[in-house]
Amino acid sequence: MSKKMWGGRFTQKTDEKVDDFNASIDFDKRLYRQDIAGSKAHAIMLHAKGILTEDEKNAIISGLDKIIVDIESGKFEFKNELEDIHMNIESVLTDSIGAAGKKLHTARSRNDQVAVDIRLFMLDEISDIAKLLEELLHTLLVTAEDNIEVVMPGYTHLQRAQPIRFSHHILAYFEMFKRDHARLSDCASRMNALPLGSGALAGTTFDIDRELVAKALGFASVTNNSLDSVSDRDFAIEFLSAASIIMMHLSRFCEEIIIWNSAEFSFIEISDSYTTGSSIMPQKKNPDVAELIRGKTGRVYGSLVSLLTTMKSLPLAYNKDMQEDKEPIFDAVDTVKDCVELFTGMIKEIKLNAPRMEEAAFGSFTTATDLADYLVTKDVPFREAHEITGKVVRFCIDNGYDLRSLPLEDYQKFSDKIDSEVYIKTSLTNSVEGKRSYGGTCKSEVERQIGIAFESLKNINA
Ligand code: ARG
Repeated sequence: MSKKMWGGRFTQKTDEKVDDFNASIDFDKRLYRQDIAGSKAHAIMLHAKGILTEDEKNAIISGLDKIIVDIESGKFEFKNELEDIHMNIESVLTDSIGAAGKKLHTARSRNDQVAVDIRLFMLDEISDIAKLLEELLHTLLVTAEDNIEVVMPGYTHLQRAQPIRFSHHILAYFEMFKRDHARLSDCASRMNALPLGSGALAGTTFDIDRELVAKALGFASVTNNSLDSVSDRDFAIEFLSAASIIMMHLSRFCEEIIIWNSAEFSFIEISDSYTTGSSIMPQKKNPDVAELIRGKTGRVYGSLVSLLTTMKSLPLAYNKDMQEDKEPIFDAVDTVKDCVELFTGMIKEIKLNAPRMEEAAFGSFTTATDLADYLVTKDVPFREAHEITGKVVRFCIDNGYDLRSLPLEDYQKFSDKIDSEVYIKTSLTNSVEGKRSYGGTCKSEVERQIGIAFESLKNINA
């Protein structure tokens, strides 16, 4: 059994069950790259400040480089009794380079070490997720552009409400995912400060140079307060919140795709490559990918609630509870990446049933508001126009008409202001093209929005 790195004041050995319970190595080994990058930067700084000799620094750096190779080739033996990634690496480093390895932990603690590792990890992952979102945003715009002529019912309460362009619906999600992207950058910018150099909690007696370490690791600044640096995880909670919102948006879109793909709606068909069959019903083609993304939303929310609950009421500064931060973070990162990527692939291959969407777009009196608006242009106050239109609709339902087929004489029974123009005003095209307000669904406005959106993607990282 390896000797404990902190064993000096202990006379009894750790219970084996405690070793297992205490260890995080099974999952935090995922941070080996960040841990080694942090250690290298720390060693360079210790040398720059005269705390390590040139030889000691070089031995540490080449020893750490060799450890990366060993980990990546599967030669590195991770040990439970060495608890976590920090002590596993330091212990093997010391075994391989001797005395210099024991000096690496000067002016450092695992508390600031883990804080830097997790920030470095998350900054990398956030940038990957942001790229995946950019691909999704681009895909949405191409889909909107390619299907600009397709009209569908817009819904409220999942009841047909007013006709809209399919592109307009897609652009709504563009806006949501664009805000998600902004939330990620915003959270990354707050996370982008180096906590290393805070020591266990109080700072350090050594004359260190935190700016140098920050520069070496690519951090924009250094954190201000040593207690805060080692004890807060708000940056991770912020990420999990942003991730939860991404999943919430994906889950809504997936739900719509599932509904639209049903035989009852038949608005779209998801391609074979994003569906699966049934083991018993040979005719089935199930929207599993969309369903699973919808389902995995719960898992990401779970990670958020898990970390919020772990952090609740913890006294300053570091507490071992905080070791529980990693699994929810890892799980959320993996889940969001998979979901955004798969969702984008699914959207790229979706086929629209435009005639069916258009037919549904006119059904259920979706242009009734246009009739009311038309009456308003004839000087009928909107509330009265609403009442008259409601009565027209009631009459149509009772007598088997729609707004297209109702004879003019019947219309005129409800208001003498109505003339033959009513048929144009309540047509599908007129309804959609009439929505010319900024952000509305007429073609020129949707095209303009697509143009602005494409432009905004060009400097999304600026
Ligand atoms: N494995 C620990 C964690 O992830 C590292 C910090 C431990 N520090 C300590 N003093 N026990 O939180």
